[in-house]
Amino acid sequence: MRPLTVALLAGGATLVFTVSAQAEPDGEAIYNQACMACHMTGAAGAPIKGDEAAWAPRLEQGMDTLYAHSIDGFQAMPPKGGHMGLSDEDVKAAVDFMLEPVL
Ligand code: HEC
Repeated sequence: MRPLTVALLAGGATLVFTVSAQAEPDGEAIYNQACMACHMTGAAGAPIKGDEAAWAPRLEQGMDTLYAHSIDGFQAMPPKGGHMGLSDEDVKAAVDFMLEPVL
């Protein structure tokens, strides 16, 4: 009986960790995983992280539009950067991280 109890407790701990990780997505990790390939190099015309001139006209649209374009896609920008497993909150955290130097 004992090993089963331990396994259940360990399972519960993992679940709690997963939930709390989703509550506060790590924008930097998500950016590195899902956005950097284009937004560090400018591939396909992507605005580069930290490039104020590239971001200034986009920022004028407002954050809600930028979030929506990141989640739903916008021209050559694929929805969620092509990572459909990301939640909307994950994508927003990555946008926040990406825009932090130019805000
Ligand atoms: C396959 C390449 C690619 C990946 C991966 C990618 N993007 Fe983009 N992104 C683009 C391109 C290209 C544009 C410029 C679209 C345009 O203006 O034509 C863009 C534009 C944007 C914009 C500006 C939208 C606007 O309204 O001006 C935001 C914000 C953005 N991306 C966020 C993200 C985030 C967050 C991720 C990761 C989750 C990501 N992108 C991953 C290619 C990519």
